[in-house]
Amino acid sequence: MGGGVSRLITLCFVCFQEPPQQILFHIHKYKYEFHVIIVGHCTKVPRNSNLEKLRSGYLFPEISRHESEHLRKNPDASLIRLGIGDTTQPIPDTITLAMAEQVRGLSTIQGYRGYGAEQGNMPLRKTIAGKFYQDMGIKANEIFVSDGAQCDISRLQTLLGSNVTVAVQDPSFPAYIDSSVLVGQAGELEEETGKYGNIIYMNCGPENNFFPDLSTIPRTDIIFLCSPNNPTGHAASWQQLKQLVEFAKANGSIIVHDSAYAAYIRDGSPRSIFAVPGAKEVGLSLQVAIEISSFSKFAGFTGVRLGWTVVPEELLYSNGFPVIKDFNRIVCTCFNGASNIAQAGGLACLSTDGYQDLCKVIDYYMENAKILVDGLTSLGWKVYGGKNAPYIWVHFPGMSSWNVFAEILKKTNIVTIPGRGFGPAGEEYIRVSAFGQRQITLEALRRLNSFL
Ligand SMILES: Cc1ncc(COP(=O)(O)O)c(C=O)c1O
Repeated sequence: MGGGVSRLITLCFVCFQEPPQQILFHIHKYKYEFHVIIVGHCTKVPRNSNLEKLRSGYLFPEISRHESEHLRKNPDASLIRLGIGDTTQPIPDTITLAMAEQVRGLSTIQGYRGYGAEQGNMPLRKTIAGKFYQDMGIKANEIFVSDGAQCDISRLQTLLGSNVTVAVQDPSFPAYIDSSVLVGQAGELEEETGKYGNIIYMNCGPENNFFPDLSTIPRTDIIFLCSPNNPTGHAASWQQLKQLVEFAKANGSIIVHDSAYAAYIRDGSPRSIFAVPGAKEVGLSLQVAIEISSFSKFAGFTGVRLGWTVVPEELLYSNGFPVIKDFNRIVCTCFNGASNIAQAGGLACLSTDGYQDLCKVIDYYMENAKILVDGLTSLGWKVYGGKNAPYIWVHFPGMSSWNVFAEILKKTNIVTIPGRGFGPAGEEYIRVSAFGQRQITLEALRRLNSFL
C-alpha cells in the first residue's frame, strides 16, 4: 500500500493459468508482489456452469471451517457444538445387534448377500408402508429405500431436470436450492437479495406462522416443503397441509414433502403429507406429492445412512406418464440399493422393541429442546420452534445472523448456525440444535447466561 511499501504474498492457484480478475485487481490496486504457483494441469474440459453459479461452500462444511478456525486461534477452547444437526445418543442395542448379526452373516456361506434390489428389501419396504403410511393408500412398491434423504433430494432433481420451475420455503434446508442450482433450474445468484433467479422463495416467518402465504405464491411445477421445518422447527398443521395439497392440485404442481423430522411431532400435526384430509377418501395428496424421509434423525442413522422416498402410482406427468416409473429408472441407474447392513438396522428400528427404544431417545432430545426453549427465553431472547422439532430458531431483530453467530462463538465457544445460511429470510436468526448431550446443553445455557 502507501509509502512504496510492497507486501509479499504467495498465491497458490490450482490450475489457473493466471489469477482471476478480482484478485489481479487487488494485487494491482494495493501493489502486492505475488508468486503464482500453478499446481496441476489444465485440461480442455470446461467447468460445469451450474457449479460456477453455486455459492462457494455448502453451509455445513462452512460452519465446520469456522469451528476449525476458532480452534486454531483458541486451541484450549472447550467447544460446544449446537450447530450442525447431528445426533449424539447411542443407537439402541436391539438395532445395532441386528446390524451386527447381518455383518457376521456376511462371513458365512448361508448369510452372504451381494447386491440387493435397487428399490430396497421388500420386508423393509412393507414394514415402512405399514408403520408410517397405514390407511393412507401407500403400497410397499411405492416406497424406495435409499441411503438417506439428502441423496434422494439430488436423485429427485435428476428426475425433474432443468426445465421445471421450483418454489422453496425461505428459510429452508439448503440442499433443495443447491441441488436446484446444480441441475440447472436456477438463474444467477442476485448478490443484493441473496436469491437465485427462477426460484420462488416462499417467505416463512412469525408474521405468517412460518407457513407460506399461498395467496402470494405464483404457480411453479415443484413445491419443496419441509415439515417439521429445518431450521424454523415449525410443523405444518392439518389445515396448512390441506391448503397446500389443494393449491398443488389446482395448479397441477408436485409437492416434494420432506418429513425427516416427523418423529419429533408432539402436537398431533400430520407426520406425512399423505395423511392430510382427503387423502384417504379421494387420494388427493397421492396425486400431487412425493415424500422423502430418513432414519437419520429418527434413529440416529446419520452415519449409518438410510432413508426412503414415496412416489405414489397415481402421480402422473402432464402427458399421463407415471412419475414412479421414471423414479425407478433413476434409482436403478444412479443408485444400486442401500447397504444391506443399514437395511437390517432399519427393520430392527421398526420392530416393537426397537421403535420403543427409539422413542425414548427422541424424548431425550425433545427434553433438551424444552430446556433450551425455556433457558433461552429466560435470557430475554425471542425463541421459536423446539416444540415439534429438535431445532430452536432464535430471533435477534435488526442484527446480522453471521455477526450473532460469530459473537456467540467468540465469547462462549458455542457453535450455532447463522440463519442466513438457510436463505435470506434467515437473516436476524440463529438455529440452535437440541441434538447435544444433556450435560453439554445445560453447560451451554450456563455459558450463555454468564455471557449476557
Ligand atoms: C430437512 C432435512 N432433510 C434431509 C436431511 C438429510 O438427511 P439424511 O441424513 O437422510 O441424508 C436433513 C439433514 O439435516 C434435513 O435437515
